[in-house]
Amino acid sequence: MTHEALVLVVDFGAQYAQLIARRVREAHVYSEIVPRSTPVADMLARGPDAIILSGGPASVHVDGAPSIDPAIYEAGVPLLGICYGAQLIARDLGGEVARTGQGEYGRTDLHVEGSSLLFAEQPVEQVVWMSHGDSITRAPAGFTVTARTDAVPVAAFEDRDRGIYAVQFHPEVRHTERGQEVLKAFLYDAAGCPPTWTNVSIIEHAVAEIRAQVGRERVICGLSGGVDSAVAAALVHKAVGDQLTCVFVDTGLLRRGEAEQVEQTFREQFEIDLVHVKAADRFLAALDDVIDPERKRKTIGELFIRVFEEAARDLGDARFLVQGTLYPDIVESGGGDNANIKSHHNVGGLPDDMQFELVEPLRNLFKDEVRAIGEELGLPEDIVWRQPFPGPGLAVRIVGTITRERIEILQHADAIVTEEIKRAGLYRDIWQSFAVLPAVRTVGVMGDDRTYAYPIVLRAVTSDDAMTADWARLPYDLLERISSRIINEVPGVNRVAYDITSKPPGTIEWE
Ligand code: XMP
Repeated sequence: MTHEALVLVVDFGAQYAQLIARRVREAHVYSEIVPRSTPVADMLARGPDAIILSGGPASVHVDGAPSIDPAIYEAGVPLLGICYGAQLIARDLGGEVARTGQGEYGRTDLHVEGSSLLFAEQPVEQVVWMSHGDSITRAPAGFTVTARTDAVPVAAFEDRDRGIYAVQFHPEVRHTERGQEVLKAFLYDAAGCPPTWTNVSIIEHAVAEIRAQVGRERVICGLSGGVDSAVAAALVHKAVGDQLTCVFVDTGLLRRGEAEQVEQTFREQFEIDLVHVKAADRFLAALDDVIDPERKRKTIGELFIRVFEEAARDLGDARFLVQGTLYPDIVESGGGDNANIKSHHNVGGLPDDMQFELVEPLRNLFKDEVRAIGEELGLPEDIVWRQPFPGPGLAVRIVGTITRERIEILQHADAIVTEEIKRAGLYRDIWQSFAVLPAVRTVGVMGDDRTYAYPIVLRAVTSDDAMTADWARLPYDLLERISSRIINEVPGVNRVAYDITSKPPGTIEWE
């Protein structure tokens, strides 16, 4: 990929590095994460406009503490050290990092001193976010101390002539009030990077790359209804138009209106060649009497592959397959080394022996960038902001055997949940919110009659990554509205419960 500017973020702690890379991109400068084991010569060979050393959990004092080849300080490339990165610079260039017992964690007052490029035109008193045990007690010779805190004499230092800057605090976290300004000062004023990484330029780069890779060959793309495959398809379509065919497998286990929306968006709005495989009967037949959650997954996964393969075979001559792999998948599995990418399948696990070359137009992008370019490409908000949805669909939200009647009840209840959560303005803040149908029946009374019908369990969780989650503290009046609408509008339901289990110990899904 060609860029007008490139910033490398050296990874001393993956979470920190990813957040820094995102913030740099939010400042409209392209950035990539590199593992700290990357030889400095290889980093320099890429011609970076700046290098950032990230924070990390280590102490420079422990044996085997991560370090970096000091050649980086002589390279003449503007350098910013953050937290652990700042301590490395201090130690490597002859300053002092000590175990003072004066660690700082969380909200801290910062006092800016003297004239500083990073804090130019900023208030002298600011709130920053800290997370460090060791402290820098002396800056290296030739450096100016530009900020301190009550506990620590060196909270930032810089040497403009050498182009080396360091901050003990975390400018990348939102709690640091002026963190983004500090990053921008480094990027624009210290490193001279132009702010040209925009949604439009991202799309232009991706389109050029796709054209170069695909040439005049045919491409297929599996659509799942989710945001990643949708944006990938829209990008590839923009790049190669009619050479693209999308395949959408309707398992009959989707949310209400999802299949229609895929049709409407891709066939009607984008005029993409779309193969809509209506396979609900096959999936329901295969799932007949299946109760065990893992068997449901396996059954659906295998049939999905078979149906997709059949559709691909019918198309005959496609050489390329589009995948919606995102940048974090690549970073987490080996830092940009292609060979190590974990297999990531958007559409339910396509087999490795399918003879396709992969097209991964989102492989350099974070999720928020994918959403932004989805909007820029004109995809509907409903697709761009859709909450995650499991590959096996509603099958793992019906606890027990799957029947058409139960699917219909669940789709109806789920649509009410989504509608009310959106109306309350909470849809984007909540990680997932949905209905579950346990196949048991309970007694109720409606009018003068006794009822004996299904319960619906409402599940709504907050989360950053689905690894851990907390149940969402939904307002009581919203819970009430959802409950009364489901019971009044969905035949076959007489009770609504709210799941107040976090993960762990629960999982997000019920199966
Ligand atoms: P759990 O239920 O394990 O879910 O807390 C974590 C996240 O993964 C989604 N999920 C799945 N996604 N195939 C998928 O593609 C699956 O079989 C599957 N099971 C769970 C779930 O919706 C949540 O976002």
